[in-house]
Amino acid sequence: MSRITNFFGVLGLGCFFSVLLFFNGKYDSPSMHEMQPSAAFLEAEKNITTAVEKHDDFSSEIINKIIDKQRKIIGNDMKDYQYPNEEYSVSVRKLEDLVMEKNGTPIRSVIVTTWRSGSTFLGDILNAHPANYDHYEALLAFDIVQIRGPPLAEKALKWVKDLLNCEYQDLDEYIDYGRPHPWVFNHNTNLWKHCQAHKGVCYNHKFLSSMCKLFPFQSMKLVRLRLRIAQELLADEKLAVRIVLLVRDPRGILQSRKHRDWCPSSPDCSDPALTCADLVSDYKVAVELLKKYPTRFKVIRYEDLSLDPYKHVEELYKFYGLNLHPKTKTFLESHTKTNKGGVSSTFRNSATAPFHWRTELEFEEVEEIQQLCSTAMKYWGYVPASNATHQKEFNPVTNYTLKL
Ligand SMILES: *[C@@H]1O[C@H](CO)[C@@H](O)[C@H](O)[C@H]1NC(C)=O
Ligand SMILES: *[C@@H]1O[C@H](CO)[C@@H](O)[C@H](O)[C@H]1NC(C)=O
Ligand SMILES: *[C@@H]1O[C@H](CO)[C@@H](O)[C@H](O)[C@H]1NC(C)=O
Repeated sequence: MSRITNFFGVLGLGCFFSVLLFFNGKYDSPSMHEMQPSAAFLEAEKNITTAVEKHDDFSSEIINKIIDKQRKIIGNDMKDYQYPNEEYSVSVRKLEDLVMEKNGTPIRSVIVTTWRSGSTFLGDILNAHPANYDHYEALLAFDIVQIRGPPLAEKALKWVKDLLNCEYQDLDEYIDYGRPHPWVFNHNTNLWKHCQAHKGVCYNHKFLSSMCKLFPFQSMKLVRLRLRIAQELLADEKLAVRIVLLVRDPRGILQSRKHRDWCPSSPDCSDPALTCADLVSDYKVAVELLKKYPTRFKVIRYEDLSLDPYKHVEELYKFYGLNLHPKTKTFLESHTKTNKGGVSSTFRNSATAPFHWRTELEFEEVEEIQQLCSTAMKYWGYVPASNATHQKEFNPVTNYTLKL
């Protein structure tokens, strides 16, 4: 028991750096890479498209070579992983139990949230392990819309399930969208290195399916699919997916969205009434799901996560059926403590990151949101500001647990 396992070591390290970055204010603007293409991306994209026209056909021999190489890397990354056996809600004894090409079931973690709600931080924690395959935001191609029902829901769910099952053969539209929009793939660090080394290979569905089926951990975030629709993933017992609903104060969400040029033209993104109707709907579904799937569904508020990241990272490990190794725990504790003591101002700054709206928004704007969002705010434990002075000083978050 005294050895430090690779998994907990690396995941712990990943978390530590995430926490550290978090303290340094990187997460001031959650999900900053969500949508915006940079000039470099656009140029790289042009080059990839040109390359693809030359070699879209990859022989199975080349594909098998790349897959074999990745399989070895994963075997190595997982050498010291401590399998939880029957101790938690997952029963896993060896790597094969988690690997789809060996008929195993990977640990699948999905974040359901909306734009500008802090999902970058949470996503980085899930993607910290070297043997993780990150589907990132599966529904980028749907553009700036919320999917609340027909006609989009069915197609969206099919895409999400196909991806989580590593079945890319019906996903031509998803793959084609990824050609001019490389951020469909480039957040998936384990995949992207092959996309770069073999130009065009990531537009080959056989390659994508085989690659995906190697990985024992899979993560995805959904900012466009409301919980009422996403709950169907939990109903699929074979998928065995775990879902975290990430919630944020609508005043913080809307303030943060004001600065995104892709947002204002879409009411689903810019209209407080629609955003808060979604928060109300998510709440009602969340109450049901907590009863129905207590081990596979969980709710986190972005504000709570920011104020006490260590505690919530620990809870998240438990939720996924992963034990926080004692040595990793000591390591994390000592480092977060150093952080708190040594650079306490940084710590305080990061803890106020989700609350920038208090100084950035005019009271009139806050008042308008509060009027349209009173139900959502009451459900999720957010306190209204009374006036401009109050707004700058008060604590907008109640000590809150979801009432079942
Ligand atoms: C794209 O291709 C051009 C010409 O082959 C090259 O000079 C440039 O560096 C490439 N850009 C990227 C981002 O790969
Ligand atoms: C602002 O609201 C606070 C809290 O409700 C109250 O105590 C204070 O008197 C108000 N200030 C003004 C100027 O109305
Ligand atoms: C919040 O509530 C929990 C449980 O109800 C309690 O243990 C905790 O001390 C409370 N925290 C504060 C700051 O009031």
